[in-house]
Amino acid sequence: MSVAPHAGNGKVTVPDILSRKSNPAPLSTPPPAKITCLTAYDCPTARLLDEVGVEILLVGDSVGMVVLGYENTLPVTLEEMLHHTRAVRRGVRRALLVADMPYGSYHTEVPESLRNAIRLVKEAGAEAVKVEGGERRLELISRLVEAEIPVMGHVGLTPQSLHLLGGFRVQGKTAEAADQLLRDAHAVEAAGAFSIVLESVPRELAARMTRELRIPTIGIGAGPDCDGQVLVLHDLLGLGLGHLPKFARRYANLADIITRAANDYCEDVRQGRFPSDAESYHLPGEVRERVAAPSKI
Ligand code: KIV
Repeated sequence: MSVAPHAGNGKVTVPDILSRKSNPAPLSTPPPAKITCLTAYDCPTARLLDEVGVEILLVGDSVGMVVLGYENTLPVTLEEMLHHTRAVRRGVRRALLVADMPYGSYHTEVPESLRNAIRLVKEAGAEAVKVEGGERRLELISRLVEAEIPVMGHVGLTPQSLHLLGGFRVQGKTAEAADQLLRDAHAVEAAGAFSIVLESVPRELAARMTRELRIPTIGIGAGPDCDGQVLVLHDLLGLGLGHLPKFARRYANLADIITRAANDYCEDVRQGRFPSDAESYHLPGEVRERVAAPSKI
């Protein structure tokens, strides 16, 4: 495992992310640039995203759905998260590397949850962990922070609560639900998280949370007023297998590109056009003659 490079040389750190909070400022001061975050699950893609300058790479438990083919994120194991986080670690030099704690890895006793988070940092090189949930994660988040592990919170549509929520749908749409979400977000901040993901939350509510919180909000399906944005990489690239949510803008259609390339390859192999002579290795002259001569055996 390679370790995170030291701060400096453009390395993005937790204090850097905190400093990007857009506080109400005098009109003359330009607001800080929005924080960019994307999911990553493997080394070469992480390297590309890091070189582009994406500031936070999140090894999301969405890996279960977009890479491993599970129906939802619930089956993802800690071992799978460790495996993918290590791969991303090897590709990242500059971005802040955050790893999701998968379902079941922080839902029993706090000491076991701490041990699991420590494994993500120690064995896989994560610089922070993300946990889903609001008020009910107060104790866990503060214990993680006490153990020197920066925490990204996640409220709104929390996919690990799929069965409780009854499906993937926009959260906080009634006055009571909006109040609960506000309490959740404030609890995450009070517990010591350095940032918070707002997923599938009405724009107006996300804007209020962004105004009220002192930590940056990172939106996904939460409108443009958050301090930063995150998307699942496979949605952005057009590589997703399932339904594309309304908020996920597709910037490329890699599924088409891969399909075309694989079709062209198969056609070339079938027609004997691949490989060509230039794509073959050759023997030096005298060996070539011996190998070409009829066998004396
Ligand atoms: O797992 C994931 O990819 C996430 C993002 C959607 C924030 O939690």
